[in-house]
Amino acid sequence: MSSRAGEAHLLVASSDEAFGRLGADAIQAAWNDSPGGATILATGWTPIPVFRELATRHARGELGTPGCPIVQLDEYVGVEDSDPRSLYTWLDREFLTPLEVKASGVIRLRGTTADSEQECRRFDAAVAAVGGLHLAVLGLGPNGHVGFNEPPSGPTASTRVVPLSPESLASNARYWEGAEVPVEGITAGLELLLSADVVILVVAGAHKRDILRRSVTGPESPEVPASYLRRVPRLIVVADDDAAAGLTQEEIGSRSGPGI
Ligand code: PGA
Repeated sequence: MSSRAGEAHLLVASSDEAFGRLGADAIQAAWNDSPGGATILATGWTPIPVFRELATRHARGELGTPGCPIVQLDEYVGVEDSDPRSLYTWLDREFLTPLEVKASGVIRLRGTTADSEQECRRFDAAVAAVGGLHLAVLGLGPNGHVGFNEPPSGPTASTRVVPLSPESLASNARYWEGAEVPVEGITAGLELLLSADVVILVVAGAHKRDILRRSVTGPESPEVPASYLRRVPRLIVVADDDAAAGLTQEEIGSRSGPGI
């Protein structure tokens, strides 16, 4: 497997609006480069300004419904679609419904199947059947996870069920408002995410500053799964001022992967 680093770009936003615009512009550019290329989308708080900007553009008639397959990144195990806290419901509320994407155009990763191993293989095959991933829009976990690829996760990590780390349980608790947080997730594997042509990593908040720096300037390590994202041909980091403080384009753009 190649560990060559691709190109990396840092886009810094000084407001939620700017964050939304930069993220939406980057997504639209990737869609324009490869109309129809499958797009996998993160949920969570960070992408919301981006999804809302896309929804506004759609409502204004400036952006059509995406013509590409939309792929679910991850889900809690045991949580039904009918639960408003399921990650699919989140995606539906923030992206699919506002952009008028039909549910039939979504490659699902379900956390409620009887055979989760089979669900993972079905999911991988469905993504392969549409030509693989073109674009991955990912958030960054406070522990360096992407999707639910918790540390340690290496570049060959498969689509699978994983126990959630204490950091993720703590971070997810805010979505569950006192209810018990699910302890397992099902996630697209890091190997699949690294097969994308373009990754847009959205990162906000001072609490993500150190992990962002380690992810984009530190050594590749399974302890920081996001550190492998520099292997994709084009990595675009959209960060707010707080997360990006001290980080420069030169640092992330000039870095080479090991073996070069
Ligand atoms: P957040 O989640 O965008 O809600 O901070 C990111 C993540 O943990 O992957």
